[in-house]
Amino acid sequence: MCGIVGYIGNKQAYPILIKGLRRLEYRGYDSAGIALIHDDKLNVYKAKGKVSDLVHFAEQQDIEGTIGIAHTRWATHGEPNQINAHPHFSQSEELALIHNGIIENYAVLKQGLIEHGFSFCSQTDTEVLVQLIEYVKKSNNVDLTTAVQLALNQCVGAYAIAVIEKGHPDVIVAARKGSPLVVGIGEDEYFLASDATPIIEYTDQVVYIGEEEVVTLKRGKQIKIKTIGNVEKTPEIKKLEMTLSQLEKGGYPHFMLKEIFEQPKTLSDSMRGRINIEENNITLAGFIDNKEKFLKAKRIIITACGTSWHAGLIGKYAIEEFARIPVEVEYSSEFRYRKPVINKDDIVIAISQSGETADTLAAIELAKSNGAFIFGICNVVGSSIPRNTYSGCYTHAGPEIGVASTKAFTAQVTVLTMLALIIGKEKGTISQEDYLKTVYELARIPEKINVILKQDAVIAEFSKTFTYAQNFIYLGRGYNYPVALEGALKLKEISYIHAEGYPAAEMKHGPIALISQEMPVVVIAPSAGMYEKVVSNIQEIKARKGKIISIVTEGDVVVRNLSDYSICIPDTVECLVPLLAAIPLQLLAYHIAVVKGCDVDQPRNLAKSVTVE
Ligand code: G6P
Repeated sequence: MCGIVGYIGNKQAYPILIKGLRRLEYRGYDSAGIALIHDDKLNVYKAKGKVSDLVHFAEQQDIEGTIGIAHTRWATHGEPNQINAHPHFSQSEELALIHNGIIENYAVLKQGLIEHGFSFCSQTDTEVLVQLIEYVKKSNNVDLTTAVQLALNQCVGAYAIAVIEKGHPDVIVAARKGSPLVVGIGEDEYFLASDATPIIEYTDQVVYIGEEEVVTLKRGKQIKIKTIGNVEKTPEIKKLEMTLSQLEKGGYPHFMLKEIFEQPKTLSDSMRGRINIEENNITLAGFIDNKEKFLKAKRIIITACGTSWHAGLIGKYAIEEFARIPVEVEYSSEFRYRKPVINKDDIVIAISQSGETADTLAAIELAKSNGAFIFGICNVVGSSIPRNTYSGCYTHAGPEIGVASTKAFTAQVTVLTMLALIIGKEKGTISQEDYLKTVYELARIPEKINVILKQDAVIAEFSKTFTYAQNFIYLGRGYNYPVALEGALKLKEISYIHAEGYPAAEMKHGPIALISQEMPVVVIAPSAGMYEKVVSNIQEIKARKGKIISIVTEGDVVVRNLSDYSICIPDTVECLVPLLAAIPLQLLAYHIAVVKGCDVDQPRNLAKSVTVE
């Protein structure tokens, strides 16, 4: 939800900021803008559309300057147009500010500022904030850092902001609450961004800015951090583990395809150091450190959004099967606003690729205030969720750039499966034989995904047949019901085709009325788990002339003969089928979207990191 980037140093800021914006474009891409200080001028350029539109516009302008801030937007307040794009000027045009988040009490603040003679040109909450900083600065006659502190004390909501001031080419002031902000420390230069991806090219030394902290970056001076309440903080410098090649397409036409193809590696990375192949054993530090809590847990509540929520559903099936602990899976956005029963001996597992999803962060706070133990499963190292949970496990899928989640999903399922197995083993609720077999099979999933990826060309070919479709149905049972939901979500997100995921047996309670020869139905029908029942469901669709695309186990004959198209996956144990079945569904959605000419990596209206509720 909006990406922000800043630079101050001895290089030209413009190319660094533009490159940074391109890396952050996954966070929003409806408009973009940049502010640069050159001599005594504070230049602001903005454009509706993507970063490339901004570049096109700025080409004709003065883009000199060694200090600047830039923004790529996902609209919350005000439609995506040039006026509402960031940076926003203050009334005097002496301050320029970029913002990721929402100032919830902006209307009250705006009214107060209007009474003090301020006028507004945009519909955004951000313009209110920059005007407020200017008002506070002038009326109290204080420097920019103090003005930002004082102004933020009046704000309710979430923000990651950066401000620069005309006539002060040596300082950027930035702050955060709720939205992420990281500072990169180079040689005589500072970078700031919503995540580390714009920074990694220049330095691996970073400081993650904490809640309600204000950071002052002065040319040639040490980084200074104070809270909005003026308490000084010592910056904690961390080393980034990301590499630049992880952020590039590596010869693939889209990040999404690259990320689908990376899954054999990312799943190996998720298991590395955790599964011992010789001994068929699992070690998870996050579990070991809190073993007693897991063994005594009366209930596990999983909270997540989107694709991570689907991974949570698969986790429920695995934890209940192996560890015999009841699991509830909650949408974070619902959980946080109802009055859920949360007990002290509950474990709340928050799952998030980005580690920044506002609803999931709020769900964590609610669970914390009720005394539950909070465990995070996140991909982005150092993000807000891992920093706000008591313990957890990283998924280690590496940076995921495509807005539609693929490799992060399978890595989440892998971690949840390992967790279910290890709790079950320690509790004695899984037999040694099942445990060893499942661990053995889990370790072999990456090579089996490689086999599925070899069918990419076949999937690409038959995907062309379905570009006519307005609707799709996805069916699965047991562990594969959440996979059906995820397959449908992928198709919706990137091809804009309406799709529904259903438990196959629920068809007869309504959705079967939708079946006609126009309706493609994707059925996950592996030999492991309720095969015959799914075959009956397929017969019901066939009888109504639906088009069947099936995911079957290698060697299957019955379902293949009933299907219009089939994709084979290698055999494995039932609980691991989702890790294989998800792959052809990702490829199917990808190829349909490509043939339809959709923007696969940046689908309309979406953003990868949803830092607003
Ligand atoms: C957005 C993304 C989805 C993602 C969801 C949850 O909607 O577009 O791909 O599944 O947020 O994000 P998280 O980072 O918490 O997993």
